[in-house]
Amino acid sequence: MKTGALILAAGKGTRMVSPLPKALQPLLGVPMLAHVAAALKPLFADELHAVIGHGAESIEAAFAGGQYPSIRFVHQTEQLGTGHALKISLPVLEHLERLVVINGDMPLISTAMMQHILDASADADMSLATITLSDAGAYGRVVRDPHTGNCLAVVEAKDYDASRYGPATGEINIGLYVLNLAVVAPLLSQLTNSNKSGEYYITDLIHLANSAQLRVTAIACGSDPALLGVNNPEELVRSESLLRENIVLAHLRNGVTLHQPEQLVVGPFVTIESGAVLAGPSHILGHTHICCGANIGPFCHITDTRIESGAVVQPYSHFLSAHVGPACTVGPFSRLRPGAVLDEAAHVGNFVELKQTRLGRGAKANHLTYLGDTEVGPAANIGAGTITCNYDGIHKHRTVIGEKAFIGSNASLVAPVSIGAGSIVGAGSVITADVPDNGLAIARGRQYTTVKRS
Ligand code: UD1
Ligand code: CA
Repeated sequence: MKTGALILAAGKGTRMVSPLPKALQPLLGVPMLAHVAAALKPLFADELHAVIGHGAESIEAAFAGGQYPSIRFVHQTEQLGTGHALKISLPVLEHLERLVVINGDMPLISTAMMQHILDASADADMSLATITLSDAGAYGRVVRDPHTGNCLAVVEAKDYDASRYGPATGEINIGLYVLNLAVVAPLLSQLTNSNKSGEYYITDLIHLANSAQLRVTAIACGSDPALLGVNNPEELVRSESLLRENIVLAHLRNGVTLHQPEQLVVGPFVTIESGAVLAGPSHILGHTHICCGANIGPFCHITDTRIESGAVVQPYSHFLSAHVGPACTVGPFSRLRPGAVLDEAAHVGNFVELKQTRLGRGAKANHLTYLGDTEVGPAANIGAGTITCNYDGIHKHRTVIGEKAFIGSNASLVAPVSIGAGSIVGAGSVITADVPDNGLAIARGRQYTTVKRS
């Protein structure tokens, strides 16, 4: 059966009290909508759609870079309710037989849970997933026939009348539905907005489906708080910390050694091989990959970086879009910016910043250095305080330092410039011209020494 999914993410998220559209509110550095998309993508592939409206432009921009699973977007220009969001999306979903509709504010949904709900809904025309809470709060309440247990309707908290439906049972609608489109889509024209919110509710379809004698199932999914929607900043914090715990636990169980895991933040797209060692507190985010045998100390902030086997990262290191080769040592207090690449066994020490720079095999830059737009050959030694002056105020220029070159402390290399293999640059030099292989360059004022007159 041709099945697809529609994520509802057009709402403003007023209760978040934030200028950022709700779909882009980050959890562990990843927009809420990308969490939902990542869970659904393995099951729906190209048939993953999302209806967006509020902040649509910035949402599309966030997904354009290819770092998150791709989604086909539908635009709901006026947010008239969840039922309306489904209705306006139908034209692009017509070829589907079965459609999953899911609220975009459920970032903790997992592929396994989605699969479970799909399996459990196989025989129904309309299914919804529910959980039971001690207090139904502001969620839509599930009304069942007291005798048969069949789901009759979902009534929004605002519209719930206990004298009509009886006291709420605590069973709530999580906002995830599976529809047999051929029979459910025609019911959408019967939705009205005559309720306390003045919105077209998707939840009214349950009552309408029952009236049309369709097979309706409410799938009880226990009381897992991971299935709760995120509507306000506190719920965002709650979901983010739950997600963090789940991710860290999964790595621990997978054989990653974790010290102080309660203080470790690991993003959902991070991959860590078993046999790696990490210590909290640290933030490991984006599409970072850490290989078996790498060891990451505490207080590090690492994003979109690959760290190879045997690399040791000392505390307080900060990496963004970098590559740390096998058996490198980095830190403490090192900064690798985008395009920093360390070949095998390179050393980067304290207060060293690298940007668009490759450090060759076994090369060392151990203290107080800035290397930007630079190629450093194997086994070169970059002395303390070396600066590549890569920017002339208008353009960036490259510096090339050859194999086994020795750059004395406090040298300024004014790019574009090239230092030949095996050459030596004297401490304190300002190098403005190329140095040949095996050259010796000293470019500083000669020392004048005398004896003071008393
Ligand atoms: C909804 C359900 C409620 C359920 C709860 C679970 C309805 C009417 N109510 O309530 O039964 O218990 O989720 O968390 O559906 N959206 C659009 N277009 C719109 C309006 C909303 O795309 O015009 C999107 C929102 O961006 C959001 C989702 O639909 O991601 C749900 O909307 P929201 O306003 O959060 O519904 P709830 O009040 O939480
Ligand atoms: Ca919600």
